[in-house]
Amino acid sequence: MKVDVLLGLQWGDEGKGKIVDVLTPEYEIIARFQGGPNAGHTLEFEGKKYVLRSVPSGIFQGAKINVIGNGVVIDPALFKSEIESLESSGHQLTKRLLISKKAHLILPTHRLLDACFEESKGDSKIGTTGKGIGPTYTDKVGRNGLRVGDVLHNFEEKYNAAKTKHLKTLAQYGFDTSALPQLEKEWFEGLAKLREFTFIDSEHYINKAIKEGKKILAEGAQGTMLDIDFGSYPFVTSSNTITAGSSIGLGIAPQAIGEVYGIFKAYCTRVGSGPFPTELFDETGDELRKLGFEFGSVTGRPRRCGWIDLVALRYAIMIDGVTQLIMTKSDVLDTFDTIKVCVAYEIEGQQIADFPFEIGDDVKSVFVEMAGWKTDMTKMQKESEFPKAFSDYVAFLEKELNVPIRVISLGPDREQTIIRK
Ligand code: GDP
Ligand code: IMO
Ligand code: MG
Repeated sequence: MKVDVLLGLQWGDEGKGKIVDVLTPEYEIIARFQGGPNAGHTLEFEGKKYVLRSVPSGIFQGAKINVIGNGVVIDPALFKSEIESLESSGHQLTKRLLISKKAHLILPTHRLLDACFEESKGDSKIGTTGKGIGPTYTDKVGRNGLRVGDVLHNFEEKYNAAKTKHLKTLAQYGFDTSALPQLEKEWFEGLAKLREFTFIDSEHYINKAIKEGKKILAEGAQGTMLDIDFGSYPFVTSSNTITAGSSIGLGIAPQAIGEVYGIFKAYCTRVGSGPFPTELFDETGDELRKLGFEFGSVTGRPRRCGWIDLVALRYAIMIDGVTQLIMTKSDVLDTFDTIKVCVAYEIEGQQIADFPFEIGDDVKSVFVEMAGWKTDMTKMQKESEFPKAFSDYVAFLEKELNVPIRVISLGPDREQTIIRK
């Protein structure tokens, strides 16, 4: 049995949460492999809406096991509020959410460091979610991190040593640390909540499950264009969001990976700073934001909006080895007269089809314009109901991307999903 992987192909918020929830009935274990509470995965069903940040999106369909893998970073304070909000809506997770001992902990001082480093960058700030993600992964790689398993022995000593180091750095920057006592209070209350869950050697757990023939879905966060190695560096997150990240973030061999579901929006969005070649600064961009309700689920920031970018998508498909595509939010384009698709970039008069090392202001998008379908598709149940112009859009994308689009999402609700033959 192989592990299937679902990940975002753009700059995040492609609808991963919704689609993991839709696919969950096919799986026995859903495992998050990277990122932390910088993620906001929104699910809607039966008239209710949930936003998940650290908890995998496989918790709502049956009693499936959900695993937070070693590649994830956890903030106990945010974890506690997420769990309590789920508990208050009747979802008990203590028996079916397992946490890797090797997942790293986001400390209160990591959050302060995140804010401090952003502030020090001035105009070139990344626009992080402010959740301490960068400093936590920096400590992991710098061999200074604290892991979930560390809370089991002499934790206070380890915590204080890390905190002392961080405070020295914050003092060098003259950063205000007056929020720390309150952050620490919430953090240690969160730690008590975290301890109610079972900590596991997740690499053993997952590999044993593979041997036993269990069906496992690995859930990514962020998107390929935010990957620390292949994204639009330095405007990226601090983990490997790509398929290979699932190998590292769960401890599974590359050959254990089966299907790779690559998910993308029918257009494109980005939160935070960094290059975005197809970005729209006009009313069309505002229209996409309004119709797609493009506001960050973690920070509430308006998302930057633009047309679909096939140069970036082809790059993501290549890096991720995508075997099946999933397109979301095409309903947002239901009222548009025409739709543009970026098929190449132009740099100094030369057309390029391969995603370049750097995207400067000199990169222009080359667009193909297609007819809009001008039809409300949000209640459609079968592919045969699709208007011709929409089928043409799908066929064009499949031809350009050379991978079949297997799932089409026509609205935020679980039911608004069409699985193609
Ligand atoms: P994720 O981070 O990839 O899980 O995506 P987010 O949840 O941050 O953002 C996707 C947003 O679009 C959420 O508000 C979803 O409820 C919503 N959504 C998902 N699929 C669709 C779709 O097909 N159509 C529309 N209109 N909204 C969708
Ligand atoms: P989901 O899983 C969209 C962006 C931030 C910022 C950059 C670095 O919901 O798709 P970080 O806090 O990670 O250090 O911020 O990455 N970013 C996201 N953008 N969706 C996300 O997650 C994101 N997680 C981080 O806006 O530009
Ligand atoms: Mg999101």
